[in-house]
Amino acid sequence: MALQRTFSIIKPDATKRNLTGKINALIEDAGLRIIAQKRIHMTRAQAETFYGVHRERPFFGELVDFMVSGPVVVQVLEGDDAIATYRKVMGATNPKDAEDGTIRKVFAESIEANSVHGSDAPETAEVEIAYFFAGLELVG
Ligand code: CMP
Repeated sequence: MALQRTFSIIKPDATKRNLTGKINALIEDAGLRIIAQKRIHMTRAQAETFYGVHRERPFFGELVDFMVSGPVVVQVLEGDDAIATYRKVMGATNPKDAEDGTIRKVFAESIEANSVHGSDAPETAEVEIAYFFAGLELVG
């Protein structure tokens, strides 16, 4: 399987509860390498642009409010089939539907405060990584 990169966000509900290390342990246990990571507090404009694809969805305003409510940790993960591997480790968007042992089943509070984001396809991973990181910051 090909080495691939994906983009991850540890969301405000998780940073608030000091869960960055525990989430990173699940990421690393799944064989993914954290090749870039920084803690930031997104501006409203950054969050609106990042989630632009959801602009017409009824939950967009609340999603943006939530994503700017506290610090987040943005990351680039590398590994075999990293996009699918990370989506499996994250679990379903709604923690009620997530499988046992997944990040969202273990830590998420709700469909909105669902602890992590991960890219859904190679094209989005490329755009999302480039939105937050310069090439020189990725140390594989
Ligand atoms: P994420 O993978 O970050 O992408 C969009 C986010 O919108 C999603 O995770 C959820 O946290 C959030 N969201 C809030 N409400 C909903 C909803 N009703 N359906 C889907 N996503 C939602």
